[in-house]
Amino acid sequence: MNTAPRPGLLLAFDDEARFAQALADACGVRHAAIVRHRFPDGELKLKLPPLGAADRVAILRSLHDPNEKLIELLLAARTARDQGVGHLTLVAPYLAYMRQDAAFETGEAVSQRIVGGWLAQLFDAVVTIDPHLHRIRSLEEAIPAPTTVTLTAAPALGRMIAARIRDALVIGPDEESAQWAGAAARAGGLAWSVCLKERRGDRDVSISAPPVDVKGRHVVLVDDVASTGRTLAHAARMILQAGAARCDAAVTHPVFAADALAVMEAHGIGSVWSSDTIPHFTNAVAVAPLIAAAFAG
Ligand code: R5P
Repeated sequence: MNTAPRPGLLLAFDDEARFAQALADACGVRHAAIVRHRFPDGELKLKLPPLGAADRVAILRSLHDPNEKLIELLLAARTARDQGVGHLTLVAPYLAYMRQDAAFETGEAVSQRIVGGWLAQLFDAVVTIDPHLHRIRSLEEAIPAPTTVTLTAAPALGRMIAARIRDALVIGPDEESAQWAGAAARAGGLAWSVCLKERRGDRDVSISAPPVDVKGRHVVLVDDVASTGRTLAHAARMILQAGAARCDAAVTHPVFAADALAVMEAHGIGSVWSSDTIPHFTNAVAVAPLIAAAFAG
């Protein structure tokens, strides 16, 4: 496993104080809050805490609802450098803007390359979990920082599933999810397979059956992220129509935009579990120990 240098100080924003405390405890480092002030016109002012003698600093920011958080990172990272920080790590349990990795029409921004390049200018190291990479293999291609660390919550999800359900059948809703479904199933000692998916638009997907008999089985769908929830919803409907006794779902990143959970429930999904890369009531797996293990030195 790739590692990042252990920080002497972890900086975090008030809305991630609980996660910051858990991560600081797991790493055995001090953590302190970045104070935010919003001006009446919507602009932000940030104030970093005293950094003391810390030469290596990590900033925690999970990048769901990312647009304003990217500005926060710009302000915080540049200010930390101004204060003399030598090595700066971004800990982004959920990393945004990784989806758009190519221009499909003339004029489309390749957000992954643009945002990734920008983060690489701000940070010496980036640590994240299950980044949403499609056509590239490694995070360093998207974020050309000196150090990138990609972790996965899939094995922890698999162990959580195995602890709750005897003999669950793990199914990934599309070919890409094989990496997470397979890792979860292996960690939990469970059987697994994947469906095939065709996506025609943000909310328009169709899924075809996995090549395994699901009749009477307790299926758990495993994927990296649920955004609109349509991928999991359509997979669940198809699996239940094929005779599965029950269908639950477990994801690393609980984005669950707008009506996602309602749509998933309407399509027959029972329980929903997630890792805490994004705070959500479905959180069932803590990723702080995973991230702490990625710091060395
Ligand atoms: C796709 O490649 C991903 O692994 C997820 O399956 C997808 O992003 C989920 O999106 P949604 O919840 O909007 O269907």
